[in-house]
Amino acid sequence: MSEALAASAPLFAICGAQDIPNRRAVPFVLARRELDGTVGPWPIFVLRWGRNVRAFENRCPHQNTNLDWEQGEFLDGEGTRIQCGKHGALFDLGSGECVAGPCLGQGLTPIEVEIDAEGDVCIRASGLVEDDDLDSGEGLE
Ligand code: FES
Repeated sequence: MSEALAASAPLFAICGAQDIPNRRAVPFVLARRELDGTVGPWPIFVLRWGRNVRAFENRCPHQNTNLDWEQGEFLDGEGTRIQCGKHGALFDLGSGECVAGPCLGQGLTPIEVEIDAEGDVCIRASGLVEDDDLDSGEGLE
């Protein structure tokens, strides 16, 4: 996404900051309009450390599968790296770059995220729609 597009995309509140336990990651499945006009699910996850948050698409660059094979489990045993549950690739918490495993040199897709003045976790992305607009089955794998 270009910087100009990212700056023009609206902020979208997805939860309160306190809904994400400190030093944990929580998955969300949002609804997003694709380039062909269909609306499909967009799985993401958000990590929180105090007032710091990071968000990434929930998709491993190795085989394009969800990272959390145990639902909601995104971190390694020490809680210091994001870990793919399928083959164990490890990713840097801040950048999402793969630091070990079969997709070394690749990275997770970051999503612009912040905590607003009201304490809500907000992401900035284009094409997001309300869940009610999610076409039944369209775009699902
Ligand atoms: S699918 Fe993630 S490491 Fe293989």
